[in-house]
Amino acid sequence: MSNVTGTAFVVAEFRSEENAETAPLYTDNVVKIWLNEETKRIAEEIAQNSPAAKEMIKLRTKYFDDVLSNQILAGCKQVVILGSGLDTRAARMNGEGVLYFEIDDRATLELKESTFKAHKITANVRYIPGDYVKDGLIALLKQSEFDFDLPTYFLWEGNTTLIAKKNVIFVLEQIRDNFKDFKLSFDYMSEQVIARTTGYQDINDYIDKYESMYTPWITGFESIETLAEDLKLKIIDNFSTADLHQQYRPHRSLESNLFKFYFVCTLENAVGCVSQSF
Ligand SMILES: C[S@@+](CC[C@H](N)C(=O)[O-])C[C@H]1O[C@@H](n2cnc3c(N)ncnc32)[C@H](O)[C@@H]1O
Repeated sequence: MSNVTGTAFVVAEFRSEENAETAPLYTDNVVKIWLNEETKRIAEEIAQNSPAAKEMIKLRTKYFDDVLSNQILAGCKQVVILGSGLDTRAARMNGEGVLYFEIDDRATLELKESTFKAHKITANVRYIPGDYVKDGLIALLKQSEFDFDLPTYFLWEGNTTLIAKKNVIFVLEQIRDNFKDFKLSFDYMSEQVIARTTGYQDINDYIDKYESMYTPWITGFESIETLAEDLKLKIIDNFSTADLHQQYRPHRSLESNLFKFYFVCTLENAVGCVSQSF
């Protein structure tokens, strides 16, 4: 765990738990290959102090699985996963001719490739080690014989809260300026959470505990509508995880007010969009 980004292991632990539900929101039979006593211990510690984190990860996994699955069903053949960590979708959602490109640091991707190999898990994926901000997303994709003319689905999960706002915007601009035909899904926190202005003390306490054990949350967005308008992007979906919870788990009560401030969204190019080809 020391060489590889620890956050990705905790996400994998939380994601994996859903498999044990009687009616799971999704099935991820691959994720268990990353888990061991150490990842379990760290995830348990975090879950004890920040129980909502687990449920938020499960809700977003279900949403992103559904969007990706619909993209593949509609004929999308090229999927880019930014900050892919231990995401298993390339192995478990592999429609015919669908090629994945995964970007993360070298240690994470090497571990991923070797673990898949050891477990004889196949995935049609090109691993691109690098930093999509410092190295530039487009430069990284160019090194990998990426087809910029093909309709492309970008998944950017569990990243935007952890990187500087100007870098989030830089990534969005790179995608907007280099692809005619794309869809992009990501999750984000409300700016109010980061600024501690939600008015809910339980949320402020939650972040304090979470950040002291895990990693700081530095970026949130006040209004996705404003962001999309500024960047000339079109919003296809925008749901709070409270909305998702209501939809996916209608008989369970919300564990935390934080769900109202944590969102998933899908955007596309507003200009010259040819989305019917997806
Ligand atoms: C919280 S994990 C989420 C992993 C995965 N997307 C998921 O939801 O399971 C964040 C991942 O993003 C990667 N990451 C963050 N910033 C990055 C950057 N600028 N370039 C490449 N990878 C990055 C980290 O190395 C880490 O593996």
